[in-house]
Amino acid sequence: MPVAKGGLEDVVAGQSEICFIDGKEGRLLYRGYDIVDLAEHATFEEVAYLLWYGHLPNRSELDRITSDLARNRTVPAEVLELIRRAPRTAHAMAVLRTAVSQLGVLDPEADDDSREANLRKAVRLVAQTGTLVAAIGRVRQGGEPIAPDPSLGLAADFLRMLTGRAPSPQDARIFDVCLILHADHELNASTFAARVTCATLADIYSAVTSAIGALKGPLHGGANENVMKMLHEIGSLDRVEPWVEEALAKKVKVPGFGHRVYKTEDPRATILRRYSKELGERRGETKWYAMLVRLQDLMREKKGLYPNVDLYSGSVYDALGIPMEIYTPIFAFSRMSGWTAHVLEQYADNRIIRPRAEYVGPVHGEDVPAPEGLGRVDVGAAHEERPHLALLRHARPPRGSMPAARAALAPAVQWVPAGVAGPPILFPGGPGRGRSVQPSLGRAAHPL
Ligand SMILES: CC(C)(COP(=O)(O)OP(=O)(O)OC[C@H]1O[C@@H](n2cnc3c(N)ncnc32)[C@H](O)[C@@H]1OP(=O)(O)O)[C@@H](O)C(=O)NCCC(=O)NCCS
Repeated sequence: MPVAKGGLEDVVAGQSEICFIDGKEGRLLYRGYDIVDLAEHATFEEVAYLLWYGHLPNRSELDRITSDLARNRTVPAEVLELIRRAPRTAHAMAVLRTAVSQLGVLDPEADDDSREANLRKAVRLVAQTGTLVAAIGRVRQGGEPIAPDPSLGLAADFLRMLTGRAPSPQDARIFDVCLILHADHELNASTFAARVTCATLADIYSAVTSAIGALKGPLHGGANENVMKMLHEIGSLDRVEPWVEEALAKKVKVPGFGHRVYKTEDPRATILRRYSKELGERRGETKWYAMLVRLQDLMREKKGLYPNVDLYSGSVYDALGIPMEIYTPIFAFSRMSGWTAHVLEQYADNRIIRPRAEYVGPVHGEDVPAPEGLGRVDVGAAHEERPHLALLRHARPPRGSMPAARAALAPAVQWVPAGVAGPPILFPGGPGRGRSVQPSLGRAAHPL
């Protein structure tokens, strides 16, 4: 059985018509359209439609999707209450993950698995996630959630619900492009998590809740927040170089750099860098931008690494007045469009996703030679006392890699020197239960 490289690198795990990445050339296409063109000419509503339906909407399709995404923004009061009650110590992504899961609990259509119902749920999920993220941001700043305004587009309404002020058309457009840039990215970790979940035929809410959990990690969506934390830690332009040298010497993974697929600059970073500069200049504060450019040059020179999407997004959000703790939730708001598109695609031609692992752990069984010095075990009285235990004949003691097994067996068995014949060993818990250690992998593990 061929074994994949660590992290499933270069493994093609399935076919998809949604997204194409050329990692060598630094190109990204949604349904065949270059992200650069979409960022220039499309709106996030059009992109969401494109991801779900496979083609850009005509006038009447766009009117319909825009209106659907506008009138489905209101979230149930119970979910807003959950956000209000969440402890301030909880990460905003944990709050969002719980809130989105709660949307599923409250949706009477949650388990309707028809394509029509799933498309309706996809629309609601994108529309409502924006409202949830804005509400999380408001509550964390000590405010109250603001109700959606269906007369505005998703991007403009998000900024209004977050800040309490209608944004300028320029700011709304920049944020709209940020949503477009984060909407999909092939089989990234969170999308894969969504597909794995829905491939069991679990509902769409379960799938996107898995995805939010995966996006939270600092190696994935969590990197945008960490970039801003890093900038605060570095503090000033003249400290960038010593900071980078120290980080690389300590083998720190610098957030915002490197990518599994891109071997050149991520095309989304190119667009976001432009906005970081433009917004910084417009606001007369280019410190973050200057530090990021310096970081970029140093990382390229010292490590041959290029920026990814997360390097410049935080500085753009900062200039738009968005608090740092909801940077990753904003990623989830946008990526909800891609996740749901992938879930629809998975359902349309489903087979459960169930790869194999190459087993490299110990095997305890009768045809496994006992290691020197230790051998069979004596179960003593444990046999009578614990009749539910599974039987493992002539086992040798689990070794260092399985301390849990040693601890589990310790009270029930007595180790005896190798070569001494003894009665069978009992394996606590039995196959698949209790503290039993991977009993299904042990060839000699039999239920009593
Ligand atoms: C994105 C990421 C998880 C990809 O991981 P990966 O494909 O497993 O890449 P690897 O960890 O194998 O990296 C390959 C080499 O580049 C180095 N590297 C990769 N990203 C790095 C980073 N951000 N900072 C410093 N070194 C990095 C690794 O240390 C390794 O170097 P080595 O061969 O000298 O040991 C990784 O680049 C990373 O952690 N980046 C920072 C977090 C981030 O920005 N995530 C958002 C991604 S969109």
